[in-house]
Amino acid sequence: MASLWRKTGAYTTLSLLLSASLAIAVIDHLAIPTKKLSDFKYGESYSYEMVSVINEFPHDPEAFTQGLVYGGNDTLFESTGLYGKSSVRKVALRTGKVETLQKIDDSIFGEGLTLFGERLFQVAWLQKTGFIYDHNNLSKVGEFMHQMNDGWGLATDGEVLFGSDGSSTLYQMDPRTFNILSKSVVYYKGHQVKFLNELESVNGEVWANVLGVDCIVRISPKDGRVIGWIVLPNLREQEVVAQNQKQMVLNGIAWDSEKKRIFVTGKLWSKIYEIRVVPINKPIEEGFIEQLCLPPLHKFTYDRSESLSISH
Ligand SMILES: *[C@@H]1O[C@H](CO)[C@@H](O)[C@H](O)[C@H]1NC(C)=O
Ligand SMILES: *[C@@H]1O[C@H](CO)[C@@H](O)[C@H](O)[C@H]1NC(C)=O
Repeated sequence: MASLWRKTGAYTTLSLLLSASLAIAVIDHLAIPTKKLSDFKYGESYSYEMVSVINEFPHDPEAFTQGLVYGGNDTLFESTGLYGKSSVRKVALRTGKVETLQKIDDSIFGEGLTLFGERLFQVAWLQKTGFIYDHNNLSKVGEFMHQMNDGWGLATDGEVLFGSDGSSTLYQMDPRTFNILSKSVVYYKGHQVKFLNELESVNGEVWANVLGVDCIVRISPKDGRVIGWIVLPNLREQEVVAQNQKQMVLNGIAWDSEKKRIFVTGKLWSKIYEIRVVPINKPIEEGFIEQLCLPPLHKFTYDRSESLSISH
């Protein structure tokens, strides 16, 4: 097991950022008269975590990952995006071999994917129509209409579907009718957590990639409350070095509920990482998460037809 935090400069940076003394943190907390009472209704107790890499597996570097699901027996299902290159795939975890590939229409940009029983559900960018596939051979068996503003992320706990549309809203949908059952706006310390992207249901929580940042937000499906943050900038840095190309964003979380394994990857990444989430045992400096995980809108150069680049 390698702790990448110790291998890269990111660790030093993080340490510096985290090194605010507890005393200052306490004083800061006492001196925030502008905060609304509602900000404190959950006691502002969040968990802050980073990751250790347990295993690395090959990943098709041509796969513009938009959805990732663990299908049992060391198999992953993956949805890829980009016009003309979108697909649904069945992938062998250990070898990265694409065992079955169902290409989707050139006019469709694939997005989030989830496995509900024997069916895979996939949403698509700028579409209200989603697609249903048989999980054995990935043959398309139907379509559905959803009521989100756009199709970005999809996940399930086996009871409901969770969906995201690039906003700060987490949707819950009926997996049979696709009607919206509930929606919650996700806030962190009074800030909306926008660009909720790929979703995964992990141990009763919803984990979401936030587009363009190296952070996963852990959300309570009960009320959309933020449980905590997992920061993982080290993984993308390693990808950039290995591929010597433009940095591509983290996207894709898969949870093996049987063996309690977590897999993450990114768009066009050459690896899938099995990670362990470990607490950051230092006080988090005020504003650290806001800066790392909630970048303001104007920092994005938004051109998804090619890729998403970050100008900072
Ligand atoms: C698990 O995957 C292996 C390799 O792809 C395959 O040979 C085997 O039949 C699978 N087992 C089950 C129970 O699906
Ligand atoms: C795909 O598998 C299902 C059973 O899971 C079967 O009913 C269907 O005919 C298969 N489709 C093709 C094209 O092989």
